[in-house]
Amino acid sequence: MSTHFKEISRRFLSRRQLLVAAAGTALFAHPLARAAIEARQTAPAVPTFAAIDHDMGDDHFIAQGYQAKLLIGWGDSLLGEQSSRFPLSDTEQASRFGYNNDYIAYMPLDGSKRGLLCVNHEYTLGHMMFPGFNNFIEVMQKSSPAQTRAEMMAVGHSIIEVAQQASGWRVVNDSRYARRITATTPMRVDGPAAGQRRLATSKDPSATKVLGTLACCAGGKTPWGTVLIAEENFGDFFTGDPSELPAAQAEPIIESYEWTQYFPQWARTDPRFNINQEPNEYNRFGWIVEFDPYDPQATPVKRTALGRFEHEGATPVCKPGKPVVVYTGDDHVNEFVYRFISSANYQPDQRDHNLSLLSSGTLYVARFDDDGSGQWIPLIYGNAPLNKANGFNSHADVMIDCRRAAALMGATPMDRPEDIEVSPATDRVYVALTKNTKKEGPQPANPGAANPAGHIVEIIPPGTEGDRDHTSSSFHWDILLQAGNPAETGVYGGDIKPSDWFANPDNFAFDAKNRLWIATDGCENFGFADGLWCTATTGARRAMPRHFYRGPRGSEICGPEFTPDGRSLFIAVQHPADERGSTYSNPTTRWPDFKPDVPPRPSIVAITRDDGGLIGD
Ligand code: FEO
Ligand code: CA
Ligand code: CA
Ligand code: CA
Repeated sequence: MSTHFKEISRRFLSRRQLLVAAAGTALFAHPLARAAIEARQTAPAVPTFAAIDHDMGDDHFIAQGYQAKLLIGWGDSLLGEQSSRFPLSDTEQASRFGYNNDYIAYMPLDGSKRGLLCVNHEYTLGHMMFPGFNNFIEVMQKSSPAQTRAEMMAVGHSIIEVAQQASGWRVVNDSRYARRITATTPMRVDGPAAGQRRLATSKDPSATKVLGTLACCAGGKTPWGTVLIAEENFGDFFTGDPSELPAAQAEPIIESYEWTQYFPQWARTDPRFNINQEPNEYNRFGWIVEFDPYDPQATPVKRTALGRFEHEGATPVCKPGKPVVVYTGDDHVNEFVYRFISSANYQPDQRDHNLSLLSSGTLYVARFDDDGSGQWIPLIYGNAPLNKANGFNSHADVMIDCRRAAALMGATPMDRPEDIEVSPATDRVYVALTKNTKKEGPQPANPGAANPAGHIVEIIPPGTEGDRDHTSSSFHWDILLQAGNPAETGVYGGDIKPSDWFANPDNFAFDAKNRLWIATDGCENFGFADGLWCTATTGARRAMPRHFYRGPRGSEICGPEFTPDGRSLFIAVQHPADERGSTYSNPTTRWPDFKPDVPPRPSIVAITRDDGGLIGD
C-alpha cells in the first residue's frame, strides 16, 4: 500500500481519536465516573511476556514461561481416550471429538478449576480425514456415502468436561455432560421464522424442527448458562441449480448468500442438501443456535429473532433489569454488523425467564457515518422499504433475508465482520474485520481501496467508561488499529517490533485484566504462521500488539477462551497442515501427534504459565 494512503489513514486515525475524546469529555462529566476512568486509565495492563518471532514450522510455539499442551483433538473420545486408529467410520465419528474446532466456551462447574468446554466444529476437509484423495476437489467428486456420513458427524459441536490437575488440564473420563451435536441432531425453531412457510420441508411441514447445525464458527455464552452457536458459511453444504427453481425461491439463494457448492457429496448422500429437491432446507440454516450444556438432553434452539446470515459469532451484553443485547457480524465481503435487543429484561436470578430472552426482540444493523458517529437501524417488517413492494411479506421474511433488508436500510458494507467482544472494563465494543479484497471503494470505517490484512473497529456506545448504553440508537466509532506490516497497511498505536504485527484478525477474547487477545486467520499469506497476539486497548500502549503464540503450519487459531481467573487459556487450532498439496497420507505436518499413522488433527490446546500466574502478565 502506498505511503500516500498510509499518511491519509494515520491522519484519519488521529482525527478520529480527537473526535472521540471530544465526545467523551461531555459524556464523562460525573466526577465519580471520571475518577473511575482515571483509575482504569492510570495503569492499564499491558502484555509483559517476551514476544515470539514471526515464523512457520511443523509445531506450534509459545512465549517463554508458558506451556501449551494438547487437551483433546479430532477423533478422541469425549471421555478423554485417544483414538487408536484412523480413518474413523461414521459411527465412530458420531461419538468422538469433531473436526475443525472453532469457538470455545468455558462453562464453569467449579470456578476456574473444573468446567465444560463447549466447542464448535465448523466444516470438514475430506482429503485430510480419509486416505485416497489428492485434494478437496476429489472429495467433492468421489467420496463415498459412508465417508460423507462421517463428515456429517464431524461437524457441529462437542461438549466435554475438563478439570485442572497437577499435571495440567485433563478431559474428565466419567463425565455425565459429554455430548456431541452434529449435522443430524434434532433442533427446535423459535422466533418469527418458526412455523413459517419458507422453513417448511417435506419432512417437517410444521417448520419447527430442523436436523442439525452447520458451519459452526464463532459463538457466545450467556450468564444464564447457555451457549450460542453461530452458523456461518452454511451455503457451502447445499448443492443444486437455483435457475430451475421458481423465481421466488431462487432469488434469495442466488442474490443473498454464498453459493459455493463446496460439499456436493452431502446432497448425493442426503437429498435435503439439494436445493432443487428441498429448497426450503436452505432457509433452516444461517441462524444463531442456543443450547444448555448443563442438560445433556436439552434440545438446541434456532433463534430466528437474531436474523439469518453468515453469522460469525454472537456476543451478549447482559445487565440486570435491562434488555439483553447481542452483537453479531456477517462474515462476508461488504456485509454488515448487527445488534439484537431482547423484548424482555435480563433478571439474574430467574433462569427460566432468561432462557426465552432470545426468542423475541428487535434486530438492528449498523451504519458507520463518516464523521465518526453511527446509527443502529431497526429491521422491522412494515417500516419502509421493508414491505410488500420489496418482496417482504412478513417479519419472518425480513429475518430470513436480513442481508437484503439491511442493504435497503442503508447499512454500511464492512470488510468481513468476524468476532465481536465487549471490554469488561470500558464497555467498548471491538469488531474484527478480517479483510476485503473485493471492496466497492474506501470508506472511513473500512479504509483503503483494498484491505488485504484487515482492521479492528471500536464501537463506543454513549455512557461512561465501564457503563455504556448498548441499547442506544447511536454510537461513536474509532479504528483501534489497521492490521498488516507497518511498512504496508499496518497502523498501530506506535512503533512496534517486527514480529508484533499481524494480519487478518478473526477471533477475540478479553483477559481478566482487560487485555485484548487477537487470534488470526490468514497470516500465511504474509509469510508466517497464524497465531495469537495481545494488546492493551487503553493507555499509552493502546493498539500495540505483542506476539504470544503461533500455530503449526497450515492452521488458523480460534477460541480463544480464558477461565474466569485468567490463569488458563484454551485455544482451538483449526485445520493444521491445510496447505496446497497436503493430504491425509502426505500432510505438510503431522501436528500434534507426529506419528506416521496419525493424520494431522485439529485440536484444543490448554495454555498455562509455568508458575501458574495470570496469562499475559
Ligand atoms: Fe468461520 Fe469467519 O470464520
Ligand atoms: Ca472465524
Ligand atoms: Ca470471542
Ligand atoms: Ca476463519
